[in-house]
Amino acid sequence: MDGSYQIRTIDQYHEAYKKSVQSPEEFWGEIAETFTWKQKWDKVLEWNFSAPLVKWFINAKLNITENCLDRWLTTQPDKPAIIWEPNDPAEKHRTITYKELYLEVCRFARVLKNNGVKKGDRVCIYMPMVPELPVAILACARVGAIHSVVFGGFSAKSIRDRISDAQCTLLITADGGFRGNKIIPLKDIADEALEGDTPVVRTIVLKRTGSTVRMQPRDVWWHDEIDKLDKEDISFDAESMDAEDMLFILYTSGSTGKPKGVVHTCGGYMVYTNYTFLNVFQYQPPDIFFCTADIGWVTGHSYIVYGPLSAGATTLLFEGVPTWPDAGRLWDIVDKHHVNIIYTAPTAIRSLMAYGLDYINNKDLSTLKVLGTVGEPINEEAWHWYHQHIGKEKCPVVDTWWQTETGGILISNLAGITPQKPAHATFPLPGVQPLLVDEKGRPIEGSDAAINALQNRVPGIGGIKSGNLCIKFPWPGMIRTTYGDHERCRQNYFQTYPGLYFTGDGCLMDENGFYRITGRVDDVLNISGHRIGTAEIENAIDMHPGVIESAVVGFPHEIKGQGIYAYVIMPGAVTSQSLSREAIVKFVAETIGSFAKPDKIQFVNGLPKTRSGKIMRRILRKIAEGEMESIGDTTTLLDPTIVEEIVNGKL
Ligand code: WT7
Repeated sequence: MDGSYQIRTIDQYHEAYKKSVQSPEEFWGEIAETFTWKQKWDKVLEWNFSAPLVKWFINAKLNITENCLDRWLTTQPDKPAIIWEPNDPAEKHRTITYKELYLEVCRFARVLKNNGVKKGDRVCIYMPMVPELPVAILACARVGAIHSVVFGGFSAKSIRDRISDAQCTLLITADGGFRGNKIIPLKDIADEALEGDTPVVRTIVLKRTGSTVRMQPRDVWWHDEIDKLDKEDISFDAESMDAEDMLFILYTSGSTGKPKGVVHTCGGYMVYTNYTFLNVFQYQPPDIFFCTADIGWVTGHSYIVYGPLSAGATTLLFEGVPTWPDAGRLWDIVDKHHVNIIYTAPTAIRSLMAYGLDYINNKDLSTLKVLGTVGEPINEEAWHWYHQHIGKEKCPVVDTWWQTETGGILISNLAGITPQKPAHATFPLPGVQPLLVDEKGRPIEGSDAAINALQNRVPGIGGIKSGNLCIKFPWPGMIRTTYGDHERCRQNYFQTYPGLYFTGDGCLMDENGFYRITGRVDDVLNISGHRIGTAEIENAIDMHPGVIESAVVGFPHEIKGQGIYAYVIMPGAVTSQSLSREAIVKFVAETIGSFAKPDKIQFVNGLPKTRSGKIMRRILRKIAEGEMESIGDTTTLLDPTIVEEIVNGKL
């Protein structure tokens, strides 16, 4: 690891921040110099947020896997790259060194090539959390194919839509996956996703659970393909990629329509995930870093795979869930593998809090140095519990705010270097220039001053501010486009406030310039840290033949952060409400995935609509939150009496 750009003091933070604002190209150019490039850039940055167009390291050539693998072969071939902890604690864990990972990736890259995969092809990956998942990802990157990982909790229909949108020609899956006491029949679900017309011509199936699966003409076994390889021929030349060539697509939910394929590119994403990994978590070799996310979400892409491996770190990959065989599973893993840094979601913390301290107090957590959280706002109670009971009050807690679209962490304290404050993501990372704006896009007074304050250490910026969070300057890891639909990218992120990237989040800033992200201001929900659009859930509910119309909103949920509240017009439900509820829940699970199941379904005769037919979600949100007093004016509604009826029937 080249630690020269690892910030080690608060002064260095302010210096780095200042340089990143005043000379961004020089700032990022110097960091990028330390990586392995096949050819250096002509220019560091070109950008224009109205197109939008963002290009980093123009005309540079590289392969990200040479930075994650090859460059560690001489310096630390025997260092563990991945420690894999299986779902069942009785099964043996695996340690894979950098040398071994390099060889596995080269072998599987050859398998991909033998199966017709070329540079630029899209490959869908639907796998459990086993070492072969990062191997598959890195092998795609090595041959220059664009990976599209689909989280193992998604339904056949969701996979089908994602495969079709990106026109993936190859799918990598497994016979099944272990999760707690369940086996997820990944291959069966994948088969269903590929029924009828599909662009997929080949499926590579990893044997994991030993479940019986139906092999079809397009299917081959992972191990058979490896066995076919020439044992002598162990290397695989990494494809030369332009810095702006696509590295991967990852689908995420927006406020409208179907999920969009967020595109990240090779050069900028690599530099940014590496930089943020080293700085936020203050990784020091030989630390063991444990991110509990699933690789199917961006957190896993950036902080299980690319960030840690590009830094030569040891990354711990866990197949199972925090509550099986019991609620001490994460702490057993910390104890067993001497984990130094753990990175998890507030939801996991809140659910483990509920089980009490018995699962913690007999575990040795003394190796822990840094605790991280991500995915949703962390409430103060959970923050303090994490700090006190897991970190024993000696580990800094980094509250990291970012998004699928940002590629890496944008706002967070740097562990032990910059100040922490419960429930606050605190300061932007160097290179990140946040701006709070009001509804009309006017900068909140003093919000810009924060950028100055961070450069010049002017204490305080006046009173508390509140606004919609935007970013006004590009950073290397940011979204480049939405796959196949650049206009959608522009509309979603760059149109609301011209000249700015709009995050969709609301944000407060305290009198010392600490940012606190309060949650989405659009129709996107965050259920246990899983992002889902209300429109998507409504579409799934509406597919039930008995349903006439539905409206979905979020409500505060003690463990999950947000829960799903669905108002459904379904005349037949009157006779059997529980059966109808069951049927709707099943529809949603089959259409999207289990995590999107509504927590509450209220059957209603109508929905509050304006005269132009628009559903007034604000009212429905207030009712779901139980804030009847603040429902506000209903006189503009087509039928104001419907509100009273809904309030009376509230669950
Ligand atoms: C949304 C992005 C970032 C990886 C996992 C989620 C919310 C994320 C925080 C945080 C408050 C947070 C935001 C954001 N969020 N981290 N530390 N504090 N809110 O990625 O699925 O793209 O979701 O998660 O609302 O917009 P994602």
